[in-house]
Amino acid sequence: MSDARARGETFEYAGATVELVDATTVLAAARVNPVELLRRASWPSPVQRVDLTVSSADRDGGPVHTFAASISTADEPLSKERIRKLVLGNDPVGLLLAKRIEAGDPIATRIVDGVGAAAAAAYRRLGLDRPDKPAASRQAGTIADAVVGLQATVTYDESGTVVRLSAEVARDEVTPAHLQAFVGLTLQAVLELTGPDALTGRRYVVSRENISTTPATTKTVTLDMVGGLTKEVNELREIAVSFRHPDSMARWGAQRPQGILMYGPPGTGKTMLSRALANEIGADFREIRTPEILDKWLGGSERNIKQIFRDARRYRVPTLMLFDEFDSIISYAGSGGDAASQAINAVAGIFKQEMNDLIEANPNVIVVATTNFPHRVDDSLIRSGRFDVKLSIPKPDEASRAEIFRKMIRQLIAAHEAPGFQMFADDLDLTALAAASHGMTGADIKEVLRRVQLAKAMQDARSGGRVDPISQEELLASVRDLAGR
Ligand SMILES: Nc1ncnc2c1ncn2[C@@H]1O[C@H](COP(=O)(O)OP(=O)(O)OP(=O)(O)O)[C@@H](O)[C@H]1O
Ligand SMILES: [Mg+2]
Repeated sequence: MSDARARGETFEYAGATVELVDATTVLAAARVNPVELLRRASWPSPVQRVDLTVSSADRDGGPVHTFAASISTADEPLSKERIRKLVLGNDPVGLLLAKRIEAGDPIATRIVDGVGAAAAAAYRRLGLDRPDKPAASRQAGTIADAVVGLQATVTYDESGTVVRLSAEVARDEVTPAHLQAFVGLTLQAVLELTGPDALTGRRYVVSRENISTTPATTKTVTLDMVGGLTKEVNELREIAVSFRHPDSMARWGAQRPQGILMYGPPGTGKTMLSRALANEIGADFREIRTPEILDKWLGGSERNIKQIFRDARRYRVPTLMLFDEFDSIISYAGSGGDAASQAINAVAGIFKQEMNDLIEANPNVIVVATTNFPHRVDDSLIRSGRFDVKLSIPKPDEASRAEIFRKMIRQLIAAHEAPGFQMFADDLDLTALAAASHGMTGADIKEVLRRVQLAKAMQDARSGGRVDPISQEELLASVRDLAGR
């Protein structure tokens, strides 16, 4: 049986089934770009649309995830009275919660429980005492764990046709349960506008939306998407933690790693890991490509590299600089003596010096260099202090290939499957795929999938949409095809 299908957490709310797909990825991606959810769902009247956005922001106390929902209703304005009921005076959580608590709704109770003033006010209005058991002991092991403490503010716009909910959770503390809680709150607000049974029998899928609406740019690559490489990914996570907590570093006089060298065969995920690390840190990503440096004019390359580092010393926000294919930019050409190799050596010397200066001058910058040929890179360039973390990124073993298949297929499902459209068959055997793809890298596996997708799309185009989901046999055939076996 396939575990590729990331049928995430499913929960029932007010008769509706809600499915949260890949909530961890949603949260990780939201650090970099706002993630929009639920936009294409359909809603009972008078609700027209709901936009739920997860994004991130910097607050004095540190970075936070922000959850925002706006519920738009029919053009005809709702009565102020109805809206006012939603917001219960100035009380942020509002009457909608109060009513739900009164009705014994467990989610509402959990959300309000422990949220401080708002909850107290809501309970008071209902003439209830706060629950006697402390919140902590009531949630053990349930989805409510992280729900407690999620406080949503409810506001409405002038016209009275849009209701907005918002909530924030510290980045270090945010979990899928917060997302679930916020979705629950949003549905409560919807319910309040539509009437008690309006959601019964409906199904909502909360997942990152289609490629066509949110392009799957490199910006959205996260460490969670990397298959295998557990040790390496963990090491990068640690580095990210050190970057997100400059205060702790300063307190102990610790210096966080600022130079990482990744080496290994093509297509094993080095560039992907760099981008994912930038996202994990919440850093800007600056890729330096060979043509940016190498210049055929005398002195041009030196000037370019100096300029790149001059800029880097001024970066105010955490920035990851990627020197991809490092060996082609920076290597000693030996003592050949012709102008070209002298120029290359000069570039390498300047790089070395600039890298030292940069690390002294700007703790916000992290430099990642990747190469397929570590032996071509001069030792003095990568000696400790400049690149203090060296990661070998090997080809994936069988278990890792299974994981890469699983993660890629999950992503495709999350991005493309929709009600009435199943992309992959239910009986995929990832173990068999992993065994068949011996010697392949992550990039190869991506290509295997790309080919099958294209073949299916063409079949679809010719037959007018009557095409079966991608089967195990089709995947195996594509693996054999790519391997030339
Ligand atoms: N371990 C992995 N897990 C998930 N996807 C992977 C993995 N390795 C590679 N990929 C996929 O393959 C694509 C290409 O990998 P990437 O460009 O990161 O390889 P690379 O190591 O930088 O290769 P090169 O040395 O040729 O630059 C990635 O964008 C990703 O989709
Ligand atoms: Mg690369």
